[in-house]
Amino acid sequence: MGISISGDSKYFQMDTKNSTYLIGVAPDGFLGHMYYGEKLQTGRDFDYDGLSWLLGKGFAERDKINFEDSFPWEYGMPGYGDFREHCLEIAAEEGKEALEFRYAGYELLPEKPDLQGLPGVFGEDGDTLVIRLREQKLSLVVELVYSVFEKEDAIVKSVRIKNEGASACFLTRVLTSQVELPPGQYDLITLHGSWGREREPYRREIGWDCQSISSIRGVSSHQSNPFMAVVSRNADEETGTVYGMNLVYSGNFLAETQMSQFGTVRGVMGIHPHQFRWKLAAGECFVAPEVVHIFSSEGIGGMSRRFHDLYRGHLIRGPYRDRKRPVLINNWEATYFNFNTEKLWEIAEKAAECGIEMLVMDDGWFGHREDDSTSLGDWETNENKLPGGLKRLVEGVKERGLAFGIWMEPEMVSPDSDLYREHPDWIIGQQGRETSRGRNQYVLDFSRPEVREEIYRRICRVLQSADITYVKWDMNRCLTHVPEGEVYHRYVLGVYDLQNRLTTDFPNLLLENCSSGGGRFDAGMLYYSPQIWCSDDTDAIERLRIQRGTAMVYPLSAMGAHVSDCPNHATRRTTPFATRGDVALAGTFGYELDVTAIAEEDRQAIRRQIEVYHQYHELICQGDYYRLPSQAEGRDYDCYMVVSKDKSQALISFVRTNVRLNYPEERIYLRGLSEEKLYRLSDRETTISGSVLMKVGLKVNGAEGEYQSKQIYLTELKDSES
Ligand code: DGJ
Repeated sequence: MGISISGDSKYFQMDTKNSTYLIGVAPDGFLGHMYYGEKLQTGRDFDYDGLSWLLGKGFAERDKINFEDSFPWEYGMPGYGDFREHCLEIAAEEGKEALEFRYAGYELLPEKPDLQGLPGVFGEDGDTLVIRLREQKLSLVVELVYSVFEKEDAIVKSVRIKNEGASACFLTRVLTSQVELPPGQYDLITLHGSWGREREPYRREIGWDCQSISSIRGVSSHQSNPFMAVVSRNADEETGTVYGMNLVYSGNFLAETQMSQFGTVRGVMGIHPHQFRWKLAAGECFVAPEVVHIFSSEGIGGMSRRFHDLYRGHLIRGPYRDRKRPVLINNWEATYFNFNTEKLWEIAEKAAECGIEMLVMDDGWFGHREDDSTSLGDWETNENKLPGGLKRLVEGVKERGLAFGIWMEPEMVSPDSDLYREHPDWIIGQQGRETSRGRNQYVLDFSRPEVREEIYRRICRVLQSADITYVKWDMNRCLTHVPEGEVYHRYVLGVYDLQNRLTTDFPNLLLENCSSGGGRFDAGMLYYSPQIWCSDDTDAIERLRIQRGTAMVYPLSAMGAHVSDCPNHATRRTTPFATRGDVALAGTFGYELDVTAIAEEDRQAIRRQIEVYHQYHELICQGDYYRLPSQAEGRDYDCYMVVSKDKSQALISFVRTNVRLNYPEERIYLRGLSEEKLYRLSDRETTISGSVLMKVGLKVNGAEGEYQSKQIYLTELKDSES
């Protein structure tokens, strides 16, 4: 059990393998945050009494606001004297109210409670503490829900707001989680980006006052990922203290840090309050999406590995979670909209010869869609392109030895579509204003059940019409003209509802999420799809940064990565075919090129790459990921390694990104190996101990030219072999 409670029920301690989280009730009933950090060897009541000073001295009525101004609130509230960034704002009929929540009891649950339509971390672990706070005047109850995942050093928080009064109120700001850190020198790491340049790590000092990241695009976004880490200033990949926070949500979010006048640092995270006004009728309960907190005293790499373990074991679901994913070929960069049945069969035939296992037909197969201006919503096969429909096409693909997957964009409608002509009022918009188009399309209002119902009926009809085992669920514009109220959040719940129905009704379907590349790569989506398309930028050199940034939080097993043609369609860069294969290996592996039109030599290379994929897939998807110093640290290469849990195998991936003469000696200091074990390296005769490889380092030979790559496989030399 990772939760202990003092005899007088005033102190609550949550322990993971390496961390402790401590909360206390101050004498006046306010709930205070006392400690979050390296594990404390405590749990006895006298220790808690000795720590009670962390909750401040209490207040005299004449100066209550001074007390509130510095109290380490576990869940901050405005209107009284807490002037820092806070989690909750509520309006009664008369307007916004000052909130004063006081402790009102606790409950221990053997497992995590359901999140009412929201995705969440699950598992046999997950002992849960619920702390109740009550606001007397409004008869509102806030329940702070904490689930402890010991092995992964994770504490997962969500919050429930219950209206126990007789009249409705309006929630105008409900952030899920708040942490209060003592004064210190901290940096903030977030993942910023853009289309084609997703999730670049950005590190800066936390100074006085606020810094925030957010999305009000209706999706978690290319520009900012719902993740932040507050790290000690000296933290690097292997050492230092790291507090990671990741919102399990796919819509608008806000994450902020604030250094107070006294040097304490508060972090808050949750749904963005923009246009949010949720009516909470008497007797109703609102559940906010959960925040995963990871603590690591083993640096930033330690945080990433804990996120990966938690998400692989306790977030991603379905038969494909641990199963080897089929090597796929997607026709988008091969044909764009210009294809027909014959062309797809040709691709399938050649792909099968190379060992590829699935053909994915991308955009352009339905309605009369020949470009991006029409037909979204009309999910009927275009028989001019695909005579005989999906059934004939899929049968032909299967005869050629491949499984079949399909692209859809269920949340969207084209103005030129029968669906829009029938239901022009089904799009998201504001009365009296023309909704702007994005990529020629509108967003269907998935907050409305009747809209979802019709779209789901259409999706099912497609999936039942042929043997389709994979769906790429795309989403190519953000939300605008969203009315104030509940639409933003209900929209996200609507997307979750449909993906939940889809994966329940078609349990063997492999779902891959996508949003103009990686615009919705978040933990919420991972609950429904074990893999997400990482970026529309398939250039191998660009991908190195994108995948490295993505792996800050999300496991390699979740990253959709494909080998594409050169010159790359987006960047015009040419890289060796072998390098493109090595780079795509750090994810769910596939191809995105016209396999009928490339050189025979490249087709041979595909065969070899697929063998390598089969050989290393398990290690890459299940192993521990270590970022090694790379471009961002001033190197002329990118390098990472994956080590099996038992440390008997490892794979090093090295790509030269720049060539300079007489550059400094390149030594790669390996990580994560066993000091004692002897390792055999795939590219040399000698065996080397883990200790030497980590302390003296390794020279990588054979990747000297620009964009050349090298992979080195390490296996433990067993006693019987030495
Ligand atoms: C955006 C996706 O990211 C691409 O892979 C492709 O599916 C296009 N949409 C199709 O319109």
